[in-house]
Amino acid sequence: MSNTKVSAELLDLLNKGIAREIQVSIQYMWQHVQWVGVKGFAVQDELEKVAITEMKHAEAIAERLFYLGGTPTTKPEPIFVGKTLKEMIEQDKKDEEGAIKLYKQIIDLARKEGDETTNRLFRQILEDEEDHHDTFTSLLEGI
Ligand SMILES: [Fe+2]
Ligand SMILES: [Fe+2]
Repeated sequence: MSNTKVSAELLDLLNKGIAREIQVSIQYMWQHVQWVGVKGFAVQDELEKVAITEMKHAEAIAERLFYLGGTPTTKPEPIFVGKTLKEMIEQDKKDEEGAIKLYKQIIDLARKEGDETTNRLFRQILEDEEDHHDTFTSLLEGI
C-alpha cells in the first residue's frame, strides 16, 4: 500500500474515469468494425487507433487507483455504437467533451490534495483527449 493518502472523492473520480475509458475503448472499436459508407472507410483506422489509446488510459488510471488503495471498476459507462457514421462520431465527440470535463476536475482535486503523480498522469491523458476531440470535430466536418 502506498503512503499517499487521497480522498474517497478522488478515488471515486478515478473510477468514473476508468468506467468512461472502458466504455469508449469498446465503443470506438465496435464502430471501427461496423463502419458504413464510403466516408466510413476513411475513419475506420482512426477509430481503431483511438480505441487502443483509450484502453491504455484505462490501464494507466487503474494502476494509479490500485496503488492508491482503490479497486478498479469493471463496469463501463453505457456504450453507444450508433447506426450512421454521423451518429457515431457525434456521440464520440460528446464523450471526449465529457472526458475533458472530468479530467480537469480530477487535475484540480489531485492538485489540491498534493497528489502530484495523479495530477501529472491526468495532464498527459487530457492532452490525448483534446487531441481526440479535435480529430472527431474535423471528421464530423467531412461527414
Ligand atoms: Fe481516454
Ligand atoms: Fe479520448
